[in-house]
Amino acid sequence: MTTYDIASIAGDGIGPEVTREALRVLKAASEVYGFDYKLNDFPFGSEHYLATKEIFPDAAFEEVKGMNAIFLGAIGDPRLPVGLIEYGVIARMRFDLDLYINLRPIQLYDARFCPLKDKTPEDVDMVIVRENTEDAYTGMHGFAHKGQASEVATQTMVYTRFGVERAVRYAFELARERNKRKQVTLIDKANAVRAQDIWTRVFAEVAAEYPDVKTDHAYIDAACMWMIKNPEWFDVAVTPNLFGDIITDLGAMVQGGMGIAASGNLHPGQVSLFEPIHGSAPKHAGKNVASPVAAILATSMMLDYLGEKTASKAVEDSIRSLLTSGRIKGVGTGAHPTNEVGDMVVNELRATATA
Ligand code: IPM
Ligand code: MG
Repeated sequence: MTTYDIASIAGDGIGPEVTREALRVLKAASEVYGFDYKLNDFPFGSEHYLATKEIFPDAAFEEVKGMNAIFLGAIGDPRLPVGLIEYGVIARMRFDLDLYINLRPIQLYDARFCPLKDKTPEDVDMVIVRENTEDAYTGMHGFAHKGQASEVATQTMVYTRFGVERAVRYAFELARERNKRKQVTLIDKANAVRAQDIWTRVFAEVAAEYPDVKTDHAYIDAACMWMIKNPEWFDVAVTPNLFGDIITDLGAMVQGGMGIAASGNLHPGQVSLFEPIHGSAPKHAGKNVASPVAAILATSMMLDYLGEKTASKAVEDSIRSLLTSGRIKGVGTGAHPTNEVGDMVVNELRATATA
């Protein structure tokens, strides 16, 4: 039997609650589908920092490097300086583990979750491939004459041919594999951010190698409009880090809200990280009201990544069936007690496996 080493970082706010349910589903899936795993808990996040002044010690980082996958609940706390824990934990793993793809599927499981009029699950079914190691996120910034009237602040948007090409290539491979519209849309702002011309050129070069895949292009502002007006135009879209961050929050709303949107931070073939895209939502923490659906779908993505395709699909199908049948009545805060959703998914997983 295969044994996977999985790191779990439950994190802050609602992170521990949604992680608990996601890990219960993982356990049920392992029992039903016959794989084995070892869970390694790490305490990092804001609470841990406040208690110990420790962010992510190197020794622990080395340990995490040796795992097959990492599950992250959520991190962030308004009591800490802006960016400290974001750069120290999430960005640290994205950069130092070179998790160069942030994969964010936007899928509507049931029409009643869509805020858009007359849109169906067929219309909202796309994947955003967010480049995950470059752009403004490299953190190259500075201030001169701080606090004076003449203050200057800069932050550099960084794009390398290597980084752009591997993200674009991943998107084309994905469009082929999905075999839906077989289309990749490049989303950029090359008309204003002229450095993004590198995206335009590399995209055209890679596209030439995939004659069976159609291409499309939208500037980020227009892409926001099209995603609301005509989400059915998108299949796979590839975009620089910062625009990818923004448009996937928009996408999350189109598919039903932050309570349902999952993501994978990938370095194909190496340890990769899976997380719901929502934050730590401190005001809902500890009340058993947060939706664990996004975290559970992140578990499904993790299983897919590990090669447990049947288990991955079974978890996703369980969620789909609970949503379409109305047994999960909502994915908003307070729609169900957090643990009740976990119970439902575990039961559904067991029931469908023995059916
Ligand atoms: C995300 C988050 C992060 C990001 C924050 C927490 C730094 O918004 O994963 O989308 O901007 O990438
Ligand atoms: Mg974000």
